[in-house]
Amino acid sequence: MESYLNTPIKEIISKFPKVGEILGEYDIGCVPCTVGSCLLKDIIEVHNLTEEGEKEVMVRITKVIYPERVIPIPKVQRTTKTRSKEIKYSPPMKKLVDEHVLIKRWIALIPKLLERLDVDSPEVREILFNGVDFIRSYADKFHHAKEEDILFKYFDENSDILKTMLEDHMKARGHVKAIVEAFEKKDKKKIIEHLNAYGELLTEHIKKEDEILYTWMDRSLSVTQVGEIYSKFSEVDEISGNGVTERCRTLVVELEEKFEKSKKEVRT
Ligand SMILES: [Fe+2]
Ligand SMILES: [Fe+2]
Repeated sequence: MESYLNTPIKEIISKFPKVGEILGEYDIGCVPCTVGSCLLKDIIEVHNLTEEGEKEVMVRITKVIYPERVIPIPKVQRTTKTRSKEIKYSPPMKKLVDEHVLIKRWIALIPKLLERLDVDSPEVREILFNGVDFIRSYADKFHHAKEEDILFKYFDENSDILKTMLEDHMKARGHVKAIVEAFEKKDKKKIIEHLNAYGELLTEHIKKEDEILYTWMDRSLSVTQVGEIYSKFSEVDEISGNGVTERCRTLVVELEEKFEKSKKEVRT
């Protein structure tokens, strides 16, 4: 069984699909993950299962792989400390989690925008134009750049977990490009397709970062590194953030109010 700890998870799941189902029960989404070359031991560590959780998962997986035999349950040698399930972020991670909140507020407006998607209406075109501006300026240039240019540099960018995150960023950029092209061609079907895909992708991506990536990073970084990252983030906030943050926050608030107001008007 020890050898399975060092086997890529996709290999294990393709041989024993039940293992994917078991991991799914513990909110470990290896089945839909497109990379899947993480080793079983890394998955257990990155997802920060409790000691009991790890034992439970390993017992169940071992039973699937060796149904006829009694095998000693291997213990994952962790390079990071096990912490409680309650999430406590370091100050720089907290900054990123807070930025996600505004991005999620914008994503929540996508269905309302699609309800009134008239590509010939100057008002709707302005909302879409502002939406693309929000994604590019805030979600991408401001937030993703902090991750890519600062935070991720403290880790191995060829590791599977970071490759997955960077792949998500690239896919998100692809959707935004497609939205802009469809917007110029007034192609309503493509705008709907890519806006929805962007919303779904980013929702999942943010969940992975909030619940898995940042907590794992926090467990791996030294206090000095955390301080360094915080001061680098603060520099970005000062240089490029303030104008962008304020403009994008106003944009989201105004759009929320606009949609709320038109909902009330429909009711009365
Ligand atoms: Fe990200
Ligand atoms: Fe993020």
